[in-house]
Amino acid sequence: MKEVAVVGGSGFVGGELLRLLLRHPEVRITQVTSDSMAGRSIGRSHPNLRKATDLTYIRHSALTPADVTFVATPHGESMSRTPELLASGGTVIDLSADFRLRDPALYPKYYHAAHPHPELLGESVLGLPELYRERLRAARLIAVPGCIATAAILALRPLVDAHLLGPSPVVVDSKSGSSASGRDSGPAGLHAERAGVMRAYAPEGHRHTAEIEQETGSRIALTCHAVEAVRGVLATCHAFLARPVEEKELWRTYRSAYGSEPFVRIVHESDGLYREPEPKILAGTNYCDIGFAVDRHAERVVALAALDNLMKGAAGGAVQCFNVRHGFPETTALEFLGLHPI
Ligand SMILES: NC(=O)c1ccc[n+]([C@@H]2O[C@H](COP(=O)([O-])OP(=O)(O)OC[C@H]3O[C@@H](n4cnc5c(N)ncnc54)[C@H](OP(=O)(O)O)[C@@H]3O)[C@@H](O)[C@H]2O)c1
Repeated sequence: MKEVAVVGGSGFVGGELLRLLLRHPEVRITQVTSDSMAGRSIGRSHPNLRKATDLTYIRHSALTPADVTFVATPHGESMSRTPELLASGGTVIDLSADFRLRDPALYPKYYHAAHPHPELLGESVLGLPELYRERLRAARLIAVPGCIATAAILALRPLVDAHLLGPSPVVVDSKSGSSASGRDSGPAGLHAERAGVMRAYAPEGHRHTAEIEQETGSRIALTCHAVEAVRGVLATCHAFLARPVEEKELWRTYRSAYGSEPFVRIVHESDGLYREPEPKILAGTNYCDIGFAVDRHAERVVALAALDNLMKGAAGGAVQCFNVRHGFPETTALEFLGLHPI
């Protein structure tokens, strides 16, 4: 049994962490922080959790060390608090961008500030069990990748490892639902502005470019769109090939990468409605569905990845890492299969 704290519990990711951790048989949640909700019950900000817990929020400054601290605050916050949490001997699972990038020089470029603890960037382990399961088992500091980055990395990494990609940049086109920008997304999140939207909000320069490049070693041309959905990310990756490939080889490549992964499914069917990955049917689940198509005309592979940004793209991925880190069965508290129709 682990005593767990959730920092930033009132946010969208914090709420999803609480939903999962409250049903985790090996977890006792001892602290949940929020300045704006201090003293109030969890159900006031997350109505789906009414009657699930008697916990109330405490202020961020009242946080004391726990066995495991999940940090779900905006980037820039956990950079300064994490060393003190680590010094107490606990594990930190950070869901912000603060410890994802190994190269400190990328923080001024993508986050407009120097990293105050670059010494921790070498130690931090990226929270993707599909890539770093063995290192996660002993990690003190785990940095869960961003939602778009998780999708793109899982779609591309098998192609990279199989040396299938040519020298051209990989074009990643992503679509995200509104919860990806958090509870405080400002005017862009207003129903009047967001409803019906199909908006390229980051035609280039999105911060997740750095994470995807770090984990694929490829030059990434990322364009991000906001679409009409609450949850979900679909990353469509246009990967130009080093040599012609057959679909059979791609099946083999993806099966050998993910055949035994509990939360990655290969979805590429010749008929039916859901032939390729689609985030809609993944809402609330920890799956990342991966699909692909070979385009011989343009000598590219179209690699697709769908996930729920709040689950495999954040809280679900974090709980999966927690399970790996502490030796619990990896699927504990993550077994929800999703809804259909939805
Ligand atoms: N949303 C997603 O799909 C997603 C996916 C992957 C990763 N992430 C990352 O996860 C983190 C949380 O995202 P979110 O969408 O849950 O954001 P959110 O809904 O805006 O929630 C932010 C949380 O952080 C707290 N907070 C704000 N400023 C703080 C400060 N200065 N010090 C301490 N706590 C502070 C807020 O508490 P108060 O109640 O006190 O304001 C709130 O609980 C971000 O780093 C985000 O990039 C998000």
